Amino acid sequence: MEKVAYEIRTFGDPVLKSRAAPVKDFDDSLKQLAEDMLRIMYEAEGAGLAANQIGRLKRIFVAAYEDEGELREYIVVNPVIEKRSEAQEKDMEGCLSIPGIGVEVERPVAVTLTGQDLSGEQMRVETEGRLARIFQHEIDHLDGILMLDRTDRESRKNAMRKMRERLLAGR
Ligand code: CO
Repeated sequence: MEKVAYEIRTFGDPVLKSRAAPVKDFDDSLKQLAEDMLRIMYEAEGAGLAANQIGRLKRIFVAAYEDEGELREYIVVNPVIEKRSEAQEKDMEGCLSIPGIGVEVERPVAVTLTGQDLSGEQMRVETEGRLARIFQHEIDHLDGILMLDRTDRESRKNAMRKMRERLLAGR
């Protein structure tokens, strides 16, 4: 099988504004995609990666989260947030598609995530805090929503200015 070379798509690429389609076939190509996504996420030292970010419009994301020294890895296909806490909190987020930029985003503190694994088996994760935030951020990607769409006007303006300056400086 020919190996596909992926690059992480960055802000301005229309694929990041597109909605990914549900996964129907739980075949080898899906497994390959998940493997590629994990590798790319770890190489880029990210906490999560959605398929849009490598130009594939399929509803799958990967995430890695360290909890008390233990690394937990997630591969979630067709993810849905079933339940959100009423309580929200603001915290800083970053994104591999918007390198070097951090913005504050307000989100529900706790969520219940459902979805499928690579074999199509149903899965369900109840979590809160950092991991709940990562899940919500990645599902947003699958809906074509970026953290810049969820922050306040001032933060968005500052982030855009920073990106423009970098672009002009050729970095
Ligand atoms: Co992101």
